[in-house]
Amino acid sequence: HETETPSLRTPIVAVLGHVDHGKTSLLDKIRGSTVIEGEAGAITQHIGATAVPLDIVSKVAGKLVSPDDFDLPGLLFIDTPGHHSFTTLRSRGGALADIAILVVDVNDGFQPQTEEAINILAQSQTPFVVAANKIDTTPGWNPNPDSPIKATYDAQSDRARSMLDQNLYELIGELSDAGFSADLYWRVQNFQNNIGVVPVSAETGEGVPDLLTVLMGLAQRYMREDMEIDVTGPGAGTVLEVKEEKGFGTTLDVVLYDGTVGADETIVVGGKNAPIVTDVRALLKPRPLAEIRTEDRFEKVDSIGAAAGVKIAAPDLDDAMAGAPVRVVRDREIDDVIEEVEAE
Ligand code: GTP
Ligand code: MG
Repeated sequence: HETETPSLRTPIVAVLGHVDHGKTSLLDKIRGSTVIEGEAGAITQHIGATAVPLDIVSKVAGKLVSPDDFDLPGLLFIDTPGHHSFTTLRSRGGALADIAILVVDVNDGFQPQTEEAINILAQSQTPFVVAANKIDTTPGWNPNPDSPIKATYDAQSDRARSMLDQNLYELIGELSDAGFSADLYWRVQNFQNNIGVVPVSAETGEGVPDLLTVLMGLAQRYMREDMEIDVTGPGAGTVLEVKEEKGFGTTLDVVLYDGTVGADETIVVGGKNAPIVTDVRALLKPRPLAEIRTEDRFEKVDSIGAAAGVKIAAPDLDDAMAGAPVRVVRDREIDDVIEEVEAE
């Protein structure tokens, strides 16, 4: 058994955007996985969560991110569906986020769920970066796998470069129409007032080092401003899914966004009729880089700290609901915590 109480909270990064614009593919590229291949019609239908440790972020970002420059434990990525019927899941994913990536197919530009996603981010004032994805589909593009954007951009023909430029400027115009001052990320001085646009390919990995670098910069600044977040208090989270698990009965896939939860603690979970009060029987942690949606080998842990995806096994979870709040009671009055869950 392993105990985990990180001193700095892991930032939560939501990945939002229109259907098929490449959200899951981008995460697959970062974690070196192929989650997309298991999806029916390559359509994401649930919110996912994946912990990416700092050393992997550094490895994918190459020279651009040195682990010595950051004191964050890593990033927790939240994948969301882009299909129009999943508005609730998109806002749920957006609401969990500290920062976000808005993925836009650079050929398609703004689409209905791009607009929807950007409104969610604007409403919650979530800082975000735009990944202008699928640059490898630019006619005449000559891919340089996993290269930072500048090197591969400079290596293209004039024709391919100007086709990409045109798409990028259209996208920057669309962001401006939506009320956001945006520019290519290397021209952005102040990421608080301007949205950085990073040209990437989830297919070839081009630009992904740049994307992770900008993201780590945003994350580091965000966490510094949010120092008051208590990483050792009683845990708070949101249910992603209610699932049967062999040997455990009904379990909850939860994103823990605050505090800690222990394997023997009492929790209150939002239920169909009334809040459920129950005792954690097991805390099951996905392996690093694993998508909680598809993970089949969990590690049993004694406690886990935010932010993290965790599967919670406990009695009486049959009436729990996706989207419901989860709260650890610890040294508080149970009735107060029940009230808190009812109020949400
Ligand atoms: P939903 O979850 O359903 O909203 O879609 P998504 O945004 O997760 O898109 P997904 O990653 O499933 O990709 C959709 C399709 O685009 C797949 O066929 C991917 O292989 C393809 N694709 C994604 N990114 C790229 C890219 O950078 N280049 C190319 N050529 N194809 C890509
Ligand atoms: Mg997807």
